[in-house]
Amino acid sequence: MANFTGFTCVGCRAPYGPGEDLLLCPVCHNLLEANYDLPGLRASLDRDAVAARSSGVWRWRELLPVVNDKAIVTLGEGDTPMLRCDRLARVVGVRELWVKSDASNPTGSLKDRSITVSATKAVEFGYRVLSCDSTGNKASSVAAYAARAGLDSVVFCPDDTPIPKVTQALFFGAKLIRVRGHYSQINAMYRKLIHSGQVSWYDCGTDNPFRYEGKKTYAYEIAEHFGWQPPDRVVHPANGGMSVAKAWKGFRELQALGWTDRVPKMTLVQAANCDPIVRASDAGASTVAPITKGPTVASALAGADPGLLGARALEAVRESGGVAVGVEDRETFEAMEMLAREGLFIEPSGAVAIAGLRRLRAAGKVDADECVVCVVTGSGFKDFDAIASRVVIPDEVVSDYAELVAAALAVG
Ligand SMILES: Cc1ncc(COP(=O)(O)O)c(C=O)c1O
Ligand SMILES: [Zn+2]
Repeated sequence: MANFTGFTCVGCRAPYGPGEDLLLCPVCHNLLEANYDLPGLRASLDRDAVAARSSGVWRWRELLPVVNDKAIVTLGEGDTPMLRCDRLARVVGVRELWVKSDASNPTGSLKDRSITVSATKAVEFGYRVLSCDSTGNKASSVAAYAARAGLDSVVFCPDDTPIPKVTQALFFGAKLIRVRGHYSQINAMYRKLIHSGQVSWYDCGTDNPFRYEGKKTYAYEIAEHFGWQPPDRVVHPANGGMSVAKAWKGFRELQALGWTDRVPKMTLVQAANCDPIVRASDAGASTVAPITKGPTVASALAGADPGLLGARALEAVRESGGVAVGVEDRETFEAMEMLAREGLFIEPSGAVAIAGLRRLRAAGKVDADECVVCVVTGSGFKDFDAIASRVVIPDEVVSDYAELVAAALAVG
């Protein structure tokens, strides 16, 4: 695995070796970006041979920043379903629409794609405890991968995090620290703690440059699915913007490897009440300013200050010719119902991808002729109460065959 050659700081361009245990750049505190020997891999790695390996994130191990294969911590994440949805395509008004359901990951959300990599690095570096701050999904993923590796975990979540997410984390054995405040306030305190050196936990949060690399496997899976001809557009929900930024990195790497010759337009969706990246995009800014967060049903996306990663997501949208859009809760619920009609049970924060596409198409910012992949990022079971309020369980209970027949005939 000498293909991973180390990191470059995106700010001061300082280089770091592949064996270093780093979060942000020690010099300028900017983000680190992993590098690979792409010219060497272009000559030695056959895309079809890689594609033929058994499924999951670790199929792409030459393109992941792992030094020791034996350290890999996996629950079978990645290679999530790609579902062609023709009815939904007609409703939204695009030629071809595919839903990639990351709800099918082991803990029910996209987070497993990246936490498998950070958990692996924790084992490589010899840590005993994994930690993160989280709107809920990352916490349950960190707890699960810690359990799988035989490690402990500590997670910090807003006090109003959906119960299923914290329940999952606790059941996996995490120590949960509930914090009053919204995610960005907690993120600021958590990062201060980690960088203070008072704890020696392995941070699986927003500063971990190894973790980012797991996110780019979206690009590999999507490109491979289309016979290495990526679709016109990939639509993804965003909180801090890591997923959009790193999926974009993945598409660029595929070009550098000579495996693809086109890239999709990266399209980012936030909740209209908490949309700092969308505002920065609309304003033509190159950095993302914090905003005052409003209430939203998309609780996993409630980051008011995306910080450095937000700027990278913005860059991905611009460079790819994509767009960023905010959606109202009403549109998110409609999108969840549209997904349900395709048999998909998706949490609000995951369904915004469909709501965003629909809004952009209606505004003429997406062409009718496009082939689009919407990534839906979390299971409906993760935010169950938000969905339970949308259905009515009948009061009536039948108690014999005659009543059962009458009820059956009544429902048609
Ligand atoms: C369900 C869901 N979708 C999307 C995201 C967005 O993640 P990112 O921070 O990569 O933008 C999150 C993050 O918490 C999430 O939980
Ligand atoms: Zn630097």
